[in-house]
Amino acid sequence: MAVVATTTTHDGPATRTATKANSRNLLRCARGRWKPRERANPTRLVGAAYRDRMDEGSARHFYDELAEDYHRIYPDWETSSARQAHALDGLIRREHGPGPQSILDCACGIGTQALGLAALGHRVIGTDISPVAITRAAREARARQLLLPAAAADMRALPFRSASFDVIVCADNALPHLLTPDDLQSALTGMRRLLRPGGLLLITTRLYDSIRKTRPRSTPPQVADTPTGRTITFQLWDWHNDAEHYEIEHFQLIPHAESWSVRVRRTTYWALTQDQLMGFVIGTGFQDAEWHAPEDTGFFQPILTARVPTSHGSGLS
Ligand SMILES: C[S@@+](CC[C@H](N)C(=O)[O-])C[C@H]1O[C@@H](n2cnc3c(N)ncnc32)[C@H](O)[C@@H]1O
Repeated sequence: MAVVATTTTHDGPATRTATKANSRNLLRCARGRWKPRERANPTRLVGAAYRDRMDEGSARHFYDELAEDYHRIYPDWETSSARQAHALDGLIRREHGPGPQSILDCACGIGTQALGLAALGHRVIGTDISPVAITRAAREARARQLLLPAAAADMRALPFRSASFDVIVCADNALPHLLTPDDLQSALTGMRRLLRPGGLLLITTRLYDSIRKTRPRSTPPQVADTPTGRTITFQLWDWHNDAEHYEIEHFQLIPHAESWSVRVRRTTYWALTQDQLMGFVIGTGFQDAEWHAPEDTGFFQPILTARVPTSHGSGLS
């Protein structure tokens, strides 16, 4: 499988088409042992390898379109990024020891959690299905002089060697972009393979148990103050007949002259209940699966943690 990699070192970015074999270099880069030689054109990120998956409504298309505006979802993205990383770091320390840990953020987007975790001293690699988001995450890392090797990769087919990471993070409702049991199983099986024995998985999602009871048709508007004025973000939701999947229309109103410019992007989610997701995680061979409520972690969504068995013979093979 070909993936597109953007690797950021303290010296600047290098963008390259990576194969499964040379994703090893991302790991070496995270450990400070490898520096990319190539300085390629970032436009190569929108390459032929992905064009066939660029259909409108796909998660990749949605986040490619949103990447440059993503921070506007938050009233203050910088502060939220630091707060979220602090909360995840606290849970990682509690569940896995002081670290620093080798962490894969497999849906890092523009880096909301990955940047903060790297700033706290962890060795973080970021991957995401959206090359545009990955390019921005690399740019944000560079601006902060953080080491964040990053690559465009689908979490259903992560291109790393087995047992490469202590911790895998999949944060802010990224997993519910997978719409079928097969896709979820592929992703979770891959994550289990990439974690070392005893390694820790952290997944954060919306609390869909309560959401599914009322099936709301919209989210409240979020208002962000930016240097160019106020931005308003809200979503319209259309539920499928199965009452589990829903389409979203994601609206952003951005001030433009005396009026507003409106940006609308569309995608689909699977509103997995906590029991459903826990079932998939345990069914993939993880153990000690546990949900942590926001009041216990300081993270704004519930977090599911689970561990790869430490000894041969426990869990699934
Ligand atoms: C709500 S965003 C959260 C991103 C990031 N964790 C953050 O908080 O900024 C969900 C992310 O999941 C990514 N995503 C969706 N499907 C994916 C897949 N199959 N493989 C990898 N990433 C995926 C999207 O591109 C997007 O960046």
